[in-house]
Amino acid sequence: MILVTGGAGFIGSNFVLAWLSDSDEPVINLDKLTYAGNPDNLAPLRDDPRHVFIRGDIGDRGLVSRLLQQHRPRAVVHFAAESHVDRSIHGPADFIRTNIDGTFSLLEASRDYLGRLSAADRAAFRFLHVSTDEVYGTLGPNDPPFSESTAFAPNSPYAASKAASDHLVRAWHHTYGLPVLTGNCSNNYGPLQFPEKLIPLMIANALAGKPLPVYGDGRQVRDWLYIGDHCAALCRVLEAGTPGETYNIGGWNEKANIDVVFTLCALLEELHPAARPYRELITYVADRPGHDRRYAIDARKIERELGWRPAETFETGLRKTVQWYLNHPDWVAKVQSGAYRQWVETNYAQRAGSLQ
Ligand code: NAD
Ligand code: TYD
Repeated sequence: MILVTGGAGFIGSNFVLAWLSDSDEPVINLDKLTYAGNPDNLAPLRDDPRHVFIRGDIGDRGLVSRLLQQHRPRAVVHFAAESHVDRSIHGPADFIRTNIDGTFSLLEASRDYLGRLSAADRAAFRFLHVSTDEVYGTLGPNDPPFSESTAFAPNSPYAASKAASDHLVRAWHHTYGLPVLTGNCSNNYGPLQFPEKLIPLMIANALAGKPLPVYGDGRQVRDWLYIGDHCAALCRVLEAGTPGETYNIGGWNEKANIDVVFTLCALLEELHPAARPYRELITYVADRPGHDRRYAIDARKIERELGWRPAETFETGLRKTVQWYLNHPDWVAKVQSGAYRQWVETNYAQRAGSLQ
């Protein structure tokens, strides 16, 4: 079996669902259920004995050690993190605690566990760390995309905390021989993404007839990857990656934010027409402090060494995503209740003064 952390969040829950639809290898899913963790994401597994859900903190070393000893997984797949840049600007402490201290604690528990395994089990064990392209900082318009040897230059508290975790993971391999693998992935989108991130936020706001808040001039570029493609890449890395190596994972799909929003409006126009064109809801608002201008991934290494390439185009992935949100209004309504409203107030009210 495998131990997954953060498996009730966006990527983790997609990964667990895909894993258990492709294989019968059981999953222990350790998740703290922060605002971003949603047990509803795992509803299809409610009565499935192959899935064991444990509510807990990756920083709880005793709990993690007990889980490792009891279930004896062959791998740890580590998604758990605070993941939203805007939240990291408003309150970085949780990012330091979970992304850095939490990863440290998980590495230590895994190292201790590794030491108790037989030689054969030790040779087979893997610690897969799920990370981001944001550790590399920002690119100019003509810079080559990020490769695995690009120097780290994180700019947000989120990116800095993930960069720190990547360094810890690297060091635990180099110093202690922990068989780690790291994936540095670009922006994901798809079903089950919390509507604080660009794409689900724009879909949810458009369907509610609310403004579509575009930061700054909207010309910031991200390299979008469909969630199913990221999960497939992680499975390949776990299966065939070389311990100690990092793999950049991206969609070969750079888009300016404003173009993403236009495309979403056009898709909604087609799939769910409203009285007024959705694009009339686009509203330019104050920029994010320290906003990275461009991310782009050079994903040639994972293609060359592990044979992975994205299967979805932006058009097919975005269409599936919009359709999923149209089909799941109850999921959206539920995650938008309670604390979500407070977040929207915190992040967007202060931008309203500079609506253009
Ligand atoms: P998410 O915010 O949707 O989910 C994070 C999950 O981790 C939640 O279920 C949450 O409850 C859980 N969690 C948080 N703190 C925890 C703790 N201390 N102990 C246990 N569980 C805890 O995030 P996501 O978008 O699914 O991202 C997953 C991972 O992938 C993160 O490490 C993120 O840095 C990385 N990543 C995300 C993207 C993206 O576009 N979303 C891109 C590249 C890499
Ligand atoms: P986001 O989904 O938060 O991911 P990240 O910051 O990790 O790349 O944001 C993607 C891009 O969209 C980023 O350039 C910020 C921008 N953005 C907006 O313009 N408006 C919004 O309301 C949000 C949430 C993001």
